[in-house]
Amino acid sequence: MVNKPPNRLRLREVRRDDIEALHAIYGDAATTQHLSFEPRTPEQVASIIDRSMASAVESPRTEHCVAFTLASSDELVGFGRLARDPHQMRAATVGFAIHRSLWGQGLGVESLTLLLGLGFDELNLHRVWGARSPLNAASKRTMEAVNMTQEGVIREHVLKNGSWRDSVVHAILDREWHQGTPNAGT
Ligand SMILES: CC(C)(COP(=O)(O)OP(=O)(O)OC[C@H]1O[C@@H](n2cnc3c(N)ncnc32)[C@H](O)[C@@H]1OP(=O)(O)O)[C@@H](O)C(=O)NCCC(=O)NCCS
Repeated sequence: MVNKPPNRLRLREVRRDDIEALHAIYGDAATTQHLSFEPRTPEQVASIIDRSMASAVESPRTEHCVAFTLASSDELVGFGRLARDPHQMRAATVGFAIHRSLWGQGLGVESLTLLLGLGFDELNLHRVWGARSPLNAASKRTMEAVNMTQEGVIREHVLKNGSWRDSVVHAILDREWHQGTPNAGT
């Protein structure tokens, strides 16, 4: 099966004028509920954007922090991160979030498909993996929808609110990506 390209979202580099739109995502408690951090302040979001823009011009580039925009506008409605795994050749970790007002419309699957396309088709990665909270059902379903296999559990991976939390790992290999992602771009 050939990967069907997503058609509602575009991927671009983040910009300084994305602060407000990214804060609408990362400043929201429901969005960060299962993430490794508490809701971000506007100042923290500004730092994320500054770091993302700086990493974009590093050589070699080890991190791609990207904005997902609706095809009809240039406004950021989602954020994604593909970061080279320092412990494995041609591997990266993935993270993604969509503005809460747009959940449940297939945009999570589209955004993750765009990130995997970047990783495999442009960066020639061999393996991409993501770690989610055991309670994050939406993330589980989203990663399964793009053919990422649930591989196992990293015990006490994340320290949040003073408690250690396990992570569940999902991953996809280059050959699996090139065979096609069954639910991508629906
Ligand atoms: C995870 C996230 C990006 C999904 O975005 P979305 O646009 O709602 O996702 P989609 O509409 O593409 O749905 C993807 C799958 O998740 C399922 N899903 C969505 N929300 C769900 C929920 N609250 N509970 C269970 N499943 C859910 C959908 O039914 C779909 O599964 P299917 O293909 O088997 O039908 C979004 O919930 C989000 O931004 N969450 C906060 C950040 C986060 O947790 N990121 C992941 C970090 S590991």
